[in-house]
Amino acid sequence: MRDDPALKPSTLAVTAGRPPREPDQPLNAPLTMASTYVAGGDVEYGRYGNPTWSAFEEALGELEGGRCLAFSSGMAAVSTVLDLVGQGAKVVAPRHAYQGSVMMLADLEARGRLVVSLVDVTDTDAVVAACEDAALVWLESPTNPALEIADIETITRAAHDAGAYVVVDNTFATPMLQRPLDLGADLVLHSATKFLAGHSDVLLGALATRDDELHTVLKNRRDLVGAVPGTLEAWLALRGLRTLHLRVERAQANAQELVRRLGEHPALTEVRYPGFGAIVAIVLAQGAMAADLLTRKTSLWVHATSLGGVESTFERRRRWKTEAATIPEGLVRMSVGIEDVDDLWDDLRRALDDLTL
Ligand SMILES: Cc1ncc(COP(=O)(O)O)c(C=O)c1O
Repeated sequence: MRDDPALKPSTLAVTAGRPPREPDQPLNAPLTMASTYVAGGDVEYGRYGNPTWSAFEEALGELEGGRCLAFSSGMAAVSTVLDLVGQGAKVVAPRHAYQGSVMMLADLEARGRLVVSLVDVTDTDAVVAACEDAALVWLESPTNPALEIADIETITRAAHDAGAYVVVDNTFATPMLQRPLDLGADLVLHSATKFLAGHSDVLLGALATRDDELHTVLKNRRDLVGAVPGTLEAWLALRGLRTLHLRVERAQANAQELVRRLGEHPALTEVRYPGFGAIVAIVLAQGAMAADLLTRKTSLWVHATSLGGVESTFERRRRWKTEAATIPEGLVRMSVGIEDVDDLWDDLRRALDDLTL
């Protein structure tokens, strides 16, 4: 981390993780394709480090205000965090967290590795009560796809009183809108696949922490398990980070305007939006069939899973058998992109109007 608290997030996004300013140094971190290094240095082998990963890690670390480690995917980072706690430890997690994280918790519980307590993260008292004998408190805020918000500071205090680690999956908010380490969390997790890389062309995960010991433990796990990023992926994600502030600002403005316009539409029973970010969820009055039809009727909005790219995408979440049964069948998660908002609205309104004819 550079010791320069005065720099604003947009300046950090542009300037962090650059090579030294010396004659003939490139402005951008080079793409270092190497499985091994000349012996005697700090890295030695391609599974232990790579200068292109380091550049991405430095930049994201500065944005989150901690030390960062990149992983081969968000799920590789999830798995590494769950590995921190001992056999039979209790993990508290949101019932509406990303389905992959919930599935991994269920799998580990079924195999006797962990005890899992799924909670409604909006019910702070219930989460605080669940923290009592926990070893790890998993937060995701906003949640995917319910868009619920957790009181990170209060829950973190209760978790720390119980001696538990707190990790916050910050994939939806990004460090541009929320910095969980400032709120007391021990770890921040990202599916960098989403907004950080931002162009739907990369799978990548990341963790950040201010705790040097934790950083060392996680780095050792990554070295051993080998869930390391591809060099090109790290390079592309760093390239994406350079415009994170602009993309988030524009996508959020588009989302806010769409939420305003969607509010009145008779085809919907609900528009969910936590007030910030670029993910919106709508619930179709006529349920699953209407939601599926909607995803086939648009020409700009693309029917696709994942989120956080420059282009607007959407999907009915319950089309996945693994999505929580408490998510409405007719809920469509919308990842708002950076296109012109009037074009996005015209495309969506036409498709929604068709459903109500
Ligand atoms: C909130 C959240 N966390 C973690 C993940 C997992 O990340 P990845 O797909 O990069 O493995 C996802 C993926 O959709 C996600 O939405």
